[in-house]
Amino acid sequence: MRLAVLASGTGSILEAIVDAGLPVHLMVTDRPCRALDLAASLGIPTRVVERASFGDDFDRDTYTVDLVDVLAEAGTDLVAMAGFGTILAQPAYDRFAGRILNTHPALLPSFPGWHAVADAMAHGVKVTGCTVHIATLEVDSGPILAQEAVPVLPDDDEGSLHERIKAVERHLYPETIRAVMENRAVLMGEPV
Ligand code: GAR
Repeated sequence: MRLAVLASGTGSILEAIVDAGLPVHLMVTDRPCRALDLAASLGIPTRVVERASFGDDFDRDTYTVDLVDVLAEAGTDLVAMAGFGTILAQPAYDRFAGRILNTHPALLPSFPGWHAVADAMAHGVKVTGCTVHIATLEVDSGPILAQEAVPVLPDDDEGSLHERIKAVERHLYPETIRAVMENRAVLMGEPV
């Protein structure tokens, strides 16, 4: 199964996927970022499908089609989003139905969206965590494959809490991707 990773940030989750021995055949980003440099230094083929805009005029459907073309041309079977900063439109879910995974820094369905760690802290939760799920058109709402709890400590700030959540994501996400690739992942009693 050919695995592609989408990332826009520091790439620490991408690095964990590679360190776990999973074969990443392509890394795609939507902007210049550390993840791009990291992938190149790891010898992973990279592509930039750069966003023309971060404003209201962003054409999400066209962007998604361009991204899907890059993934499909590379023979991608499975897509893992690892801190990817662009919400994908329907064409991605048509082409890769049930084959786009995501890791999210909260215990979904609590705290979806871009500010999950800050939102959890603002609610005063004592436990948060991370969720690995199958991505669907509705953001952070797809079927959940794995979760792990992370306690919120009294002296946490957003950065320290997110870093402890990422430490968990770095093992939970590769393990779950591997389970999907080896047809061991199960969702409500059914194989994924
Ligand atoms: C991870 O915590 C991931 O869950 C989060 O971005 C971080 C990427 O870390 N993704 C989202 O918040 C998506 N909504 P990295 O840049 O260090 O790999």
